[in-house]
Amino acid sequence: MKDPDHSRRRLLMQAAGLAAGAALTAAAAGGGPAAAPAAVMPRTGAAVGPRRIIIDTDPGVDDALAIFLALKSPEVKVEAITPVAGNVPLDLTLPNALRLLEIAGRSDIPVASGASRPLKRRLVTAAYVHGNNGLAGVEFPEPKTKPVAESAHQLIRRIVRQSPGEVSIIAIGPLTNLALAFRDDPQLPSQIRSITIMGGSLSGGNITPAAEFNSYVDPEAAQAVYRSGARITMIGLDVTRRAALSEEQIRMLESTGNPAGHAAGRIMRATLEQVRRTGSNGGRLLAHDAMAVASFIDPSLVTRQDVHIEIETEGELTAGETVGYRKTPMRRSAPLLDAPGAADDAPFQPNAQAAVDVDGDRFLSFLIGRLVS
Ligand code: BDR
Ligand code: CA
Repeated sequence: MKDPDHSRRRLLMQAAGLAAGAALTAAAAGGGPAAAPAAVMPRTGAAVGPRRIIIDTDPGVDDALAIFLALKSPEVKVEAITPVAGNVPLDLTLPNALRLLEIAGRSDIPVASGASRPLKRRLVTAAYVHGNNGLAGVEFPEPKTKPVAESAHQLIRRIVRQSPGEVSIIAIGPLTNLALAFRDDPQLPSQIRSITIMGGSLSGGNITPAAEFNSYVDPEAAQAVYRSGARITMIGLDVTRRAALSEEQIRMLESTGNPAGHAAGRIMRATLEQVRRTGSNGGRLLAHDAMAVASFIDPSLVTRQDVHIEIETEGELTAGETVGYRKTPMRRSAPLLDAPGAADDAPFQPNAQAAVDVDGDRFLSFLIGRLVS
């Protein structure tokens, strides 16, 4: 018979080992989006602190995991949370962000209200995964804290502008807030250290055959971000579909005395019931957004490839598709008779790195280990 305590200890030990190794791995990745782990000594001898991040999010069950993971990771310092409409409307994602911070005892982190709808489209939500309240129907107390007065795109702009080249963004919802910030300040992308996006797919969608949910909800915003010149890593369905939480891992979360980990366990339990009921994600419990945070902290979890991403904004059936060009020059649309020259070969110019493989078991051990500690 399987000894649950043994498995639990094994998972915790793996996670602890990975936590210790993460700093070395990130240092070895040198200069990449996740180059500077906590307390690494640079050449000058001065200690470098945790890497500063803003989480742009639509909580959201896997957003909750991602936020808790970041809060429990000493390698990063969360400067702000900027909720946007997505999985559920903004009037739920905003209080959800506030309540998640309160659960984790981190209501000192500013939360700024973001866009209530996509740039040009009607909002589409995903209650079939995230429940009507965005947290799989699990009730937590009303938040006591309030959002700051600035809007999300103003806050992003101010924080980045105050420390050019220092702040990274982990974007795990539709990209509306970022697109608005870039619209106001076209130089802003060059001031952002890196953007890690959970969104898109090079291997088929999850809301249409072509599109992943975050890209589908606001394709125009995604297009603006990919065309902005920012340094982007795409963590798409290609990798996030490869790691599903197990029953045992949910139990570990449920049984921890740590408030954030325990809340994550309650949310995951309810989500599992929900996806089994609706058949979403094939009834599997995926942690898309947490993988974006984990791979930012430890880049060795994923394998990346240079890509040029274009977002389909015209297609009637394919809106939001992330079309990924790899090394070989490839053509664009088939030329129309009355648009000569419109479909020339596109020279390969990468505008992102896309994760194409992941060590799923190591990711899950890392996630659970951090959440129960
Ligand atoms: C993405 O869409 C949302 O439903 C999840 O929170 C995640 O950000 C996965 O496609
Ligand atoms: Ca999300």
